[in-house]
Amino acid sequence: MAMILPFQALKLVLILLSIGKVASSASFTLRSQCTYTVWSGTLSGNGPVLGGGGSELPPGSSIRLTAPSGWSGRFWGRTGCSFNRTTGAGNCSTGDCGGLKCTGGGVPPVTLVEFTLAASPADKDFYDVSLVDGYNIGMGVRPTGGTGDCQEAGCREGLNRRCPPELRVVDSATGKVVGCKSACLAFGRPEFCCTGDHSTPQTCTPSNYSAIFKAACPTAYSYPYDDATSICTCSGTDYVITFCPTN
Ligand SMILES: *[C@@H]1O[C@H](CO)[C@@H](O)[C@H](O)[C@H]1NC(C)=O
Ligand SMILES: *[C@@H]1O[C@H](CO)[C@@H](O)[C@H](O)[C@H]1NC(C)=O
Ligand SMILES: *[C@@H]1O[C@H](CO)[C@@H](O)[C@H](O)[C@H]1NC(C)=O
Repeated sequence: MAMILPFQALKLVLILLSIGKVASSASFTLRSQCTYTVWSGTLSGNGPVLGGGGSELPPGSSIRLTAPSGWSGRFWGRTGCSFNRTTGAGNCSTGDCGGLKCTGGGVPPVTLVEFTLAASPADKDFYDVSLVDGYNIGMGVRPTGGTGDCQEAGCREGLNRRCPPELRVVDSATGKVVGCKSACLAFGRPEFCCTGDHSTPQTCTPSNYSAIFKAACPTAYSYPYDDATSICTCSGTDYVITFCPTN
């Protein structure tokens, strides 16, 4: 009897662990296919800070983060960063969040991958790629399993090359286009921002600017009420988030 007990205890632990896996966590693998170093940034809406808020991702590298059920938050990429190796102090030319470890969101224009994970196994995860705050680099999100629609979302090409001059962000040091503002960010007008007289899905419609974003990234939010083609759902899955997915 005394010899069996430890095995029973182990079995119980294993059962609890397997229930825990199904019910209460999802992993995010962040990987970079960019030809240059990117720095991930992450901000939590609900739940713990993941991975300390940000990491350096050299070309071809990846990191894995785990989030509990009910977690919500966003991931983005930062480019042109320079940090003090000891203190983490420094800044980035796009997506900056105050230091190596983000304490707030990324400065727009910045491509975002957004998640609201299911709070219970009966619920679905919601996720999307958003260009509502503009675009800096290509991002994609792919569920690795799960049940439901489980669509892949993201951009298939570099939008900076197609960015109209009035929306461009140019790096002063290199002269390169490093970001593309949303029309809301560039002009602040209610018809682009879906505010004021344009604050409902009926009164805020696509613009010639959001159409450029939609053409490059058909499965991403190109303006705030772009829900129909942009919100994805899936249950019981992990996710791979790729920077520069088309490289
Ligand atoms: C990094 O920060 C430390 C502490 O403030 C400082 O002594 C050091 O000079 C910094 N390094 C660089 C390369 O700026
Ligand atoms: C970014 O960091 C560099 C080097 O530390 C510094 O010279 C520059 O002023 C910083 N820029 C901003 C906007 O903080
Ligand atoms: C979008 O439409 C506005 C107003 O008609 C025009 O001024 C602007 O040049 C257009 N921009 C693009 C990129 O088509």
